[in-house]
Amino acid sequence: MFFRKQNPPSSWTDKEKVYNNKSSHKELPNFLSLTNPHLRYALFLSVFLFAWFLVLVFWFPPNPNLNNNNNHNFNNVGHCNIANFSVYVYDMPAEFNVGLLEDCRHLNIYTDMCPHVANRGLGQPISVMGLPAAEPTAMPSWFATHQFIAEMIFHARVENHPCRTRDPRRASLFYVPFYGGLHASSKFREPNLTARDVLAVRLADFLESQPFWERNQGKDHFIALGRTAWDFMRSDHGPDFGANCLLNLPAVTNMSVMTVERNPWNGAKQHGIPYPSYFHPSTWQEMSTWQDEVKRASRPNLFSFIGGPRKGLEKAAIREELIKQCAGSNRCELLQCQPGQHKCHEPGEVLGVMRRSEFCLQAPGDSFTRRSTFDSVLAGCVPVFFSRHTAYTQYKWFLPEDEREYSVYIDEKSEESGRIEEVLGRIPRERVERMREKVVELIPTLTYAHPNATATDLGFHDAVDVALASLADHVRRNLVS
Ligand SMILES: *[C@@H]1O[C@H](CO)[C@@H](O)[C@H](O)[C@H]1NC(C)=O
Ligand SMILES: *[C@@H]1O[C@H](CO)[C@@H](O)[C@H](O)[C@H]1NC(C)=O
Ligand SMILES: *[C@@H]1O[C@H](CO)[C@@H](O)[C@H](O)[C@H]1NC(C)=O
Ligand SMILES: *[C@@H]1O[C@H](CO)[C@@H](O)[C@H](O)[C@H]1NC(C)=O
Repeated sequence: MFFRKQNPPSSWTDKEKVYNNKSSHKELPNFLSLTNPHLRYALFLSVFLFAWFLVLVFWFPPNPNLNNNNNHNFNNVGHCNIANFSVYVYDMPAEFNVGLLEDCRHLNIYTDMCPHVANRGLGQPISVMGLPAAEPTAMPSWFATHQFIAEMIFHARVENHPCRTRDPRRASLFYVPFYGGLHASSKFREPNLTARDVLAVRLADFLESQPFWERNQGKDHFIALGRTAWDFMRSDHGPDFGANCLLNLPAVTNMSVMTVERNPWNGAKQHGIPYPSYFHPSTWQEMSTWQDEVKRASRPNLFSFIGGPRKGLEKAAIREELIKQCAGSNRCELLQCQPGQHKCHEPGEVLGVMRRSEFCLQAPGDSFTRRSTFDSVLAGCVPVFFSRHTAYTQYKWFLPEDEREYSVYIDEKSEESGRIEEVLGRIPRERVERMREKVVELIPTLTYAHPNATATDLGFHDAVDVALASLADHVRRNLVS
């Protein structure tokens, strides 16, 4: 774990809410009267369209395989029909991505990353809760995936994406596959700032020399980073936490940046993407089997906490409190993470605890966000947040606007945070069920599907699909205005 800089002082405004508020109601026409000729015409048209619809349905009945379960209107999955966009993938000099993997032993100052960068970032195949690591015929779908590896999986997924175009003239998005997080974590202890920044500076030079950069000054370009934005935003004031200057470079400020943790105060062009969890299915059937499994799971624990204390970090003070309360309750399962305690990093153990619990406490740690949030969703456990920046201000593309549909919020400064068991125990059964259903519904779009999945077999929209479609939408509107 790496200590990051403290939170900037609170100056969070809801600026981005405006952009998210797609549906403007101010143009509601006032023709709601039958005498109105527009309305009569509209009625006629509706009847006609309805008749046509019946013809279509009877001549071409919908494919039942694609319409099962809660996977909303997903048709013709073999083609790029997620939204109106196409993405071009830059062919980068290897030093920006795969070349970095050659020295995978030294990519992270704490861990040997070689096992984690294997299988294009999925890591090593595992068996979880009695499920086989690999069915003989299928690709493995469970992996011990590293928490900071989203950038590699993203790259692999986009390369294989049905909306990828090889013709930059036709592209609406330009993806710059830079493994910035892996590179940053190999340089946290580099005292020479010029040396720490040099690859980021070369990236900016590379981009500015590209013909298609000019077209929109990079505003249709993006990178995806598997570490938090703080690791790429070194500031001249305050202590040095090892970050580089990537996100402060003029070229990069013109681009969009996907990151597992955005700066909630000053990150209008930063977009939160999920941390990768352990499930990387290739088919809708696998996904739906897992969803059924977690829906059925019996949950003897009211709540659980997985994590370790963070000594001396003010924003993580709540952790000590959670550990104390969880240890003191017979309705809470505690998995304490300490040096030498490996269970905490074993996907089977982690998911097991979460699958036995109704609620999973998600306290901020070194930074606001946690991979654990996504593990908990995967296990069908309703997350409980203590900071708005752990999820609500981060993952707007992925989470329902009404946070109460899928989570519980207990302000860490409130007196309620001193009696969590009571607060959670009071929530009516039906409400808990509804929240869990919502959580389970969120699993597909918070999952990184297997990069080798074919679009036809996948049959659901995963995190990369949602990120690309949402970004395309964002960029399109930004270029117009
Ligand atoms: C789809 O995108 C293309 C290129 O970005 C644009 O010309 C076209 O108008 C878009 N169509 C719709 C229906 O948005
Ligand atoms: C995807 O398929 C290719 C070609 O069959 C194979 O070499 C590669 O290992 C697969 N990738 C993963 C992550 O399994
Ligand atoms: C810092 O790194 C840069 C780039 O690698 C190098 O040119 C420079 O000599 C280094 N400075 C010191 C003081 O070592
Ligand atoms: C960033 O965009 C602005 C226009 O908004 C443009 O003037 C500037 O040159 C761009 N910067 C780079 C490095 O392309």
